[in-house]
Amino acid sequence: MKLYFAPMEGFTDAVFRRVHRRMFPGVEKYFMPFISPSASLSFTKREMYDLSPEANAGVPAVPQILAKDPEHFLGAARMLRDLGYTEINLNLGCPSGTVTAKGKGAGALRDPDALARFLDAVFAACPLPLSVKSRIGMDDEGEWPQLMRLVIRYPFSEWILHPRTGREQYRFSPRPLCFDQARRAAPFPVIWNGDLFTARDAWDFLGDHPGAEGLMLGRGMVTNPALAREILGGEGINLPELIAFHDALLREYLRVWPASAAVGRMHAVMGYLGFALDHPPKRMRVLRQTTDLEGYTDAAAALFRESRVLSPPRFVPPA
Ligand SMILES: Cc1cc2nc3c(=O)[nH]c(=O)nc-3n(C[C@H](O)[C@H](O)[C@H](O)COP(=O)(O)O)c2cc1C
Repeated sequence: MKLYFAPMEGFTDAVFRRVHRRMFPGVEKYFMPFISPSASLSFTKREMYDLSPEANAGVPAVPQILAKDPEHFLGAARMLRDLGYTEINLNLGCPSGTVTAKGKGAGALRDPDALARFLDAVFAACPLPLSVKSRIGMDDEGEWPQLMRLVIRYPFSEWILHPRTGREQYRFSPRPLCFDQARRAAPFPVIWNGDLFTARDAWDFLGDHPGAEGLMLGRGMVTNPALAREILGGEGINLPELIAFHDALLREYLRVWPASAAVGRMHAVMGYLGFALDHPPKRMRVLRQTTDLEGYTDAAAALFRESRVLSPPRFVPPA
C-alpha cells in the first residue's frame, strides 16, 4: 500500500520535502505543488529552485502541471524530462476561482469535450508516464459518471481522486462511493485523497476498502509529519521530534531565503503544526505577531516549552 504526500502550494516545497524525507519514513512519493507553464516556459527563480535536481536530491518528487493548452503542457513535460524526472502529474483538481475561471484545474472538468481534445493531444506526445489528480466534477456530482468514463479511456499511470466537486472546495464529505466506482472501472491504480487526518482514519478507511492501492495525505501530514510512519505501524510523533522538524525547516529556509520570508513560511507551517499540540493559545498569538527572526525563534521556543503533543495529533478543518 502506497502513501503519498499531497502537493500543497505554500507548504510542501523543495525545502519542506527534503527535511521531511530526511526525518520521517513511509512516504513513497512527494507530489509537488503545481507549475503553470506558459508558451515561454518562464519560471520564477523560486520555481526553478523548487524543480532543480539539486534541491530534490534523494527525494522521490513528482512534478505537477496545471495547463489547458497541450503545447504548454508538453513544453513543460519535456523540460521536466530533461531535468531528470521520470513521471509527471496533471492537475485537474485545483478549485481556486482564479484557476477554474480559466478552464484549468477542476475548471477543466466543466467541458468534457475540450478535456478529451486536450488529453488526446497530450497523450499523443507525452514524453513521460503521466498520472492525474482530479475531483469528481466542477459544479455538480452529476458530472461524475461522464468524467469517470473519460478518464479511464486514457493510459494514465495512476489516478489520485479527491472525491469532492471543485465547487465544494473542502466543504462536506468526500465520497467513498465514487472512489469504489473508479477502482472498479479503471485499468490503472486509483489512489484515495481526502480527509484522512490520523492513523486511525487511514486504518478505518483501509478496513472499508480492502486492497486499496494507496492513500495521499495532505493537511493531516503537515500537521503530523510522522503520519505515514504511524499508518505503517511505526511510532507516533513525540515532542522532541516535532521540535527537531520545526528547527530543521527554519534552518533550511534560512539557507535559501531571506529571514523575513523564512519567518513568514514558518508562521504558515505553525498554522498546521499547532493542531498537533496542546499549547497555551496566548503563546501562539504571540508567535503569530512576530516578524523578525529573533522574536520568532524566542516565541517558538516558549510555545514548545509549554506544549505537549496531542494523542492523536489531528488537523481540524475550519467549520
Ligand atoms: C494550502 C493548500 C495548497 C494546495 N496546493 C495544491 C497543489 O498545488 N496541487 C494540488 O493538486 N492540490 C493542492 N492542494 C490540495 C491537496 O493536495 C489535497 O488534495 C487536499 O488538501 C485534500 O487532501 P487532505 O484532506 O489529505 O488535506 C492544496 C491544498 C491546500 C490546503
